[in-house]
Amino acid sequence: MSSTSETVTRRATPRTGSVLDLVPVMPVVVAATAAEGVAVARALAAGGLPAVELTLRTPAALDAVRAIASEVPEVVVGAGTIVGPRQAELAVRAGARFLVSPGTTRPLLDAMRDTGLPFLPGVATVSEVLSALDAGCTELKFFPAEASGGTAFLRSVAAPVPAARFCPTGGITAANAAAYLSLPNVGCVGGSWLTPADAVAAEDWPRISRLAAEAAALR
Ligand code: 3PG
Repeated sequence: MSSTSETVTRRATPRTGSVLDLVPVMPVVVAATAAEGVAVARALAAGGLPAVELTLRTPAALDAVRAIASEVPEVVVGAGTIVGPRQAELAVRAGARFLVSPGTTRPLLDAMRDTGLPFLPGVATVSEVLSALDAGCTELKFFPAEASGGTAFLRSVAAPVPAARFCPTGGITAANAAAYLSLPNVGCVGGSWLTPADAVAAEDWPRISRLAAEAAALR
């Protein structure tokens, strides 16, 4: 568990340091349009979470990254769901400040590294963790976290593989996030629960800000 002064430092410096230290909960966002991405990013920041993993899962995703980067400069926007080298390249051109992949191949890892941006390669097994460490990556996305062993997995790898730090994502909720955040090898958690589809559809930005504020207070 972090001390209060470490927590204050982490929140006061969202533009520096590692991706895992930007926010305690990284909002995983799917945007149907660039304008929607901008509105969601603003709502999250208003609640105290000035970072977004914008997933490249919709035709508008890169436009949304571009729009957030230029219109919401107080938010650190990253691109998630990077599944191929080309997406890494496109994401950096759109203005992404960090990259996240759900799994890792060597070409994908090399492409993300070539962008010069910080990145979180996805891992789900001890061997994948070891491969990522071997490639020089110590900050990793643990995905899909709940389906791959959850907090028990992370507790088990902490002793044999102490160099690895994780952002668990996939099945994290307001109910289980604190348990993950209490682990020494967890820097932050990621999740889509902050941006419920019905709230986005209704443009209920205050609800998203409230969910963000609850998440921001978790650590
Ligand atoms: C991701 O892309 O990281 C996950 O799909 C988010 O998982 P969640 O929807 O279970 O939070």
